[in-house]
Amino acid sequence: METAVKTVELAPGIIWVGVEDWNRRFFDALIPLPRGTSYNAYLVVGRSRIALIDTVAPGFEDQLIAKIRVVVPPERIDYVVMNHAEPDHAGAIPAVMSAAPKAQVVATKKGVEIAGALHRIPESQCLTIRDGDTLDLGGKTLRFLEAPWLHWPETMFTLAIEDQILFPCDFFGSHMASDRLFDDEVSDVLIPEAKRYYAEIMMPFTRMVTAGLDKAKNSAPKIIAPSHGPVYRRPERILEAYEKWSRGRLAAKAVVMYVSMWRSTAHLATAVISGISAEGVEAVPFDLSTSDISHVASELVDASAVVLGSPTVIGGLHPTAAYALSLLKLLRPRLKLAAFFGSYGWGGGAATQARTLLEPTGCELLGVLDIRGTPGEKEIADAVLLGRKIAQRVKETIK
Ligand code: FEO
Repeated sequence: METAVKTVELAPGIIWVGVEDWNRRFFDALIPLPRGTSYNAYLVVGRSRIALIDTVAPGFEDQLIAKIRVVVPPERIDYVVMNHAEPDHAGAIPAVMSAAPKAQVVATKKGVEIAGALHRIPESQCLTIRDGDTLDLGGKTLRFLEAPWLHWPETMFTLAIEDQILFPCDFFGSHMASDRLFDDEVSDVLIPEAKRYYAEIMMPFTRMVTAGLDKAKNSAPKIIAPSHGPVYRRPERILEAYEKWSRGRLAAKAVVMYVSMWRSTAHLATAVISGISAEGVEAVPFDLSTSDISHVASELVDASAVVLGSPTVIGGLHPTAAYALSLLKLLRPRLKLAAFFGSYGWGGGAATQARTLLEPTGCELLGVLDIRGTPGEKEIADAVLLGRKIAQRVKETIK
């Protein structure tokens, strides 16, 4: 039985030929993908020339080429635009180049270098572009906009000028597979999923995000077509979300992430949370032993404060708490405030390690509550007070 090959037209001559990866459950061996993901690729068919914008992940080459074949013979492709060299978008370039032997890979200078190292694409097959360069395909003009560190140093956007469609690759993406392509066709989970993606992929590069956001806005797109997740026919949805996440006002919110072995640290967590709430600030608790770390990351996007709780384990932080702190350091949320609480049995150490790891984040360290054994009335009261102090400072900070 023949299976239908799905392609979707974004505008006359601009066709989605990407693939859905319904079953992928991890990205970079780190990020959970409960809804899978997609690798979006687009054909731009001009009167005289044809370009393919981005490709797909290794393993999906045949699907991509079959989809291209529905629209045009692959050997007619003149340009393979590589907005980003990461294998989920560029991994199929060698297969495409075999099917399209006259094509050139279009990339930034850094992109050409990385394509050579990662995908063994010789420089002689590449066309190096600079910011603002254009390619005339005959009635369709592509403009290339350098957008470094979104998500690697070589990244760029491509704008289809006449149709005002922006192809920003990872930027504005979301990890979700769907049989619907457009943002107005998928369920309300889209923006929360885009936020979770933002937290893990874009948040470490906030300064570059704001530069990229301005570039995207200045190109006045009618459609934003990223290379993961839905295509935005209402671009203002994702532009406004990125504005808020990258330079909007932080929320009156404290993320309380903790791990506990014998409930002592958990009791302190409950008390800290009640102190924060009592001051009218939102406390978002995560028991790290059972939480999806990507949900923690998502909450950190607009939180003002983080509070870490950990018992001492062999002279230091519980490994789960240490892992969460290392991710915090990597993801660089815009947090302003931090605090620590925990319990130890005979010799401490977690608090000292937490202080050492939290100080370089640049957050104001509001308190370190380090108690011995099971918390009694006094310790619980101290934890409530710590929560109140955090909340009061949150309110002052975001005024
Ligand atoms: Fe979707 Fe940075 O690759």
